[in-house]
Amino acid sequence: MAARWAASTVYQIYPRSFADANGDGFGDLRGILGRVDYLARLGIDVVWLSPIYPSPDVDNGYDISDYEGVDPRYGSLADFDELLAALHARDIKLIMDLVVNHTSDQHAWFAASRSSRSDPKRDWYFWRPARPGTTPGTPGAEPNNWGSFFSGPAWRFDPETGEYYLHVFAAQQPDLNWENGAVRAAIYAMMRGWLDRGVDGFRMDVINLISKDPSLPDGPTIAGLRYGLGVPHFVGGPRLHEYLAEMRREVFARYDRALFTVGETPLVTVEQAQRLCDPGPCGLDMVFSFDHMMADYGASKFDLQPLDLRKLKAIFTRWQEGLAEAGWNSLYWANHDQPRAVSRFGDDGAHRVRSAKLLATALHLQRGTPYVYQGEELGMTNVPFASLDELRDVESRNFAEEALAAGADPDAVLSQLRVASRDNARTPMHWDATPSAGFSSGRPWLPVNPNYREINAAAAEADPDSVFHHYRRLVALRRSDPVVAFGAYRELLPDHESVYAFTRTNGAELLLVLCNFSGREVRAAVPEAGRWAAAGIVLSNYGAAGAPVVEGGDFRLRPWEAVVLRRSLRGVTSRSGT
Ligand code: NOJ
Repeated sequence: MAARWAASTVYQIYPRSFADANGDGFGDLRGILGRVDYLARLGIDVVWLSPIYPSPDVDNGYDISDYEGVDPRYGSLADFDELLAALHARDIKLIMDLVVNHTSDQHAWFAASRSSRSDPKRDWYFWRPARPGTTPGTPGAEPNNWGSFFSGPAWRFDPETGEYYLHVFAAQQPDLNWENGAVRAAIYAMMRGWLDRGVDGFRMDVINLISKDPSLPDGPTIAGLRYGLGVPHFVGGPRLHEYLAEMRREVFARYDRALFTVGETPLVTVEQAQRLCDPGPCGLDMVFSFDHMMADYGASKFDLQPLDLRKLKAIFTRWQEGLAEAGWNSLYWANHDQPRAVSRFGDDGAHRVRSAKLLATALHLQRGTPYVYQGEELGMTNVPFASLDELRDVESRNFAEEALAAGADPDAVLSQLRVASRDNARTPMHWDATPSAGFSSGRPWLPVNPNYREINAAAAEADPDSVFHHYRRLVALRRSDPVVAFGAYRELLPDHESVYAFTRTNGAELLLVLCNFSGREVRAAVPEAGRWAAAGIVLSNYGAAGAPVVEGGDFRLRPWEAVVLRRSLRGVTSRSGT
């Protein structure tokens, strides 16, 4: 089932930062409408739109106060319909962000729920009394020891009714109680509403967190950490598969067109991913694994370490092999929750263009469905934030507040956030070299990255050697080449510390992918190097400089070189990917 998206590429739009048509400094639907031809030129098949629903914006729209509307800052439902039609006219599908682990605390459901202990919606969220023997509302009185993903405890005391509610993200994002059938029915009805409107599916925010152990027990504690770990009690929880099977019956099964479903699934294992994608129980098309995003974590996500390529390769290979027969991989380096890929895994200085193309090649040549996050196709970089005050992201701000309160050095905290903050990915898209990067005629809600005069879409489209055109070729290659879409993956040289090498094989057709993740020239003892030396180049980031040289049975790869070669066991063929 999932393999039906094998030839597709998804493009993620973070709407507040994509394009602003009305000059209020905030991206909007008409802004996106003005850029659909850009998306068509890139060639992508599916747009994933991050939330556009009404929201008080504590977590940039991932705190939704009305699932059925469009926030007026983005436009209207009529604008939405126009955008959907414009995408469909270009053969591009649109998937919505489905954020149903939690709502905003400003959602009418939560307002009712918090209004009294006897309200019919009280049980739509998790309300619990203080821990026995404690004074409600004081530190340590929380119903259990779970910490929130966004710092502090996962509970907030509500003096009105004298109980706590659960929020595994920000305090303004109370968790919905999926144990309650009326909650599920309301969510399914809302999903059908969007599908009836014509959308093509959903990206499901933290969908593997929706089933919690209803006894909400304390989690394990870790030395040095103030709060316990709730995750064993709500990641891949007891009724997750049952809920997804029900969602499938109540929503997706009622439509006879191909709908696209991808689950965002933190901490998911290969085995769980197989099950979530199994057409029997759950039937998601694919899930997002986080393992490769954690390959460079030190003590936490705010403690990024130099990448150990061998570790990253082992993770990719485990997922490629693990989902070869069952399930399907989502391939991504970047999204609105991650710093910019070229700054994190490449070289955003002298080798920016080449390393951005290498990252694209290493990912898009794998088996799965690739995701491109806005600006990644330009090689956009992290932002030189000058002070903590410039950060807007709730996760970054809470982290800084907690670290400073614990006595951390503000410069050290700023250095961590410059590398790891989600705001790196959230500055406005660079369209051209005019003020505010052509994003807005007003003052952007988050300042543009100062390097927009050099890195922008207009310049990239005009330059045949740009990162943009490399992505365009990769997207086209996936659509036209069954080896890229379906071929079996086999890793070569797993112990090489700077070369990622693998083959893709479909019948008699073979591709070899070689990527030098370093700024040095390196040698790679690829099996059958002599035969590959005579193969045709499908794609390279060294352009006219041609294929790497084979010397003494080794490939000699230049700094950040990425090359894809093709051989046919029926005879060597040569082709160009342009
Ligand atoms: C995952 C989203 O991608 C992220 O941006 C958000 O903060 C959390 N889920 C909570 O909704």
